[in-house]
Amino acid sequence: MSSSPPPQPSMPPDSLTSLAPVSRNGRSLATSAAGPTTLVMLAEPRSSAAEAYRSLAANLQFANLEQPLQTIGVTSPGGGDGKSNTLANLAIALAEGGRTVIAIDADLRRPALHTLFGIQSGEGLSNMLMNEHAQLPLHETAAPGVKLVTSGPLPTNPLDVLASRRFDQVLGLACAQADFVLVDTAPAGVLADAAVLAPRLAGMLLVVSAGRTKRDLARRAREQLERVNANVLGVVLVDVKGDDKLYRY
Ligand SMILES: Nc1ncnc2c1ncn2[C@@H]1O[C@H](COP(=O)(O)OP(=O)(O)OP(=O)(O)O)[C@@H](O)[C@H]1O
Ligand SMILES: [Mg+2]
Repeated sequence: MSSSPPPQPSMPPDSLTSLAPVSRNGRSLATSAAGPTTLVMLAEPRSSAAEAYRSLAANLQFANLEQPLQTIGVTSPGGGDGKSNTLANLAIALAEGGRTVIAIDADLRRPALHTLFGIQSGEGLSNMLMNEHAQLPLHETAAPGVKLVTSGPLPTNPLDVLASRRFDQVLGLACAQADFVLVDTAPAGVLADAAVLAPRLAGMLLVVSAGRTKRDLARRAREQLERVNANVLGVVLVDVKGDDKLYRY
């Protein structure tokens, strides 16, 4: 075993590696008088952060022209890295081009998409997974073209519930109704949820927070995803200190 220090979070193929230049330290992109959280794509659509989400959306749309990516999971090594914010902003950016997007909150431990979009969780994914339902409980959002499947009530056994065949049925229903289906997950470095979902999705995005993600955890997340042969599309680097206009590819 080599004792040389590991490289900077060794990240997967960088074909899509992109940066959403969001800063938790600079301007407040996430809070407003209107509510606890405002998505930058809605609140500041002309900002450099919004442009970065548009670039990411464009990269994903043109990543594989022969077989466009329809189902994309978003995960991160640890808790609070910025998965849900990234997913919600990316959903809006994808929908801006006239595409329809369904965002599924499959983080059945700390669901956040309903809060980010300012709606009640109500009936959602867990209801679909635990009972037979013929129709997706789709919630409208303020973002044109973006619909949401909220988490629903939190189950006691999220991993088993996500591993069930019913999740594939949910995905199938979503794919039939949208150009893109984005799936939010629990942190991949800590929990197995994302690894259970990843093989069933066309690709995974790994959100890494420059200010927060621990290198060890990043490596563990990547290994978890590689072990299940996930198609890791790239890394979205968020929370770049000091300059939210910074772009890196
Ligand atoms: N683009 C952003 N701009 C400002 N703040 C952000 C941004 N992204 C994340 N944050 C802040 O970081 C915190 C965590 O973000 P988020 O909920 O997206 O992370 P997460 O990885 O989904 O967390 P969890 O592991 O709990 O699901 C939030 O409280 C949010 O305020
Ligand atoms: Mg989250």
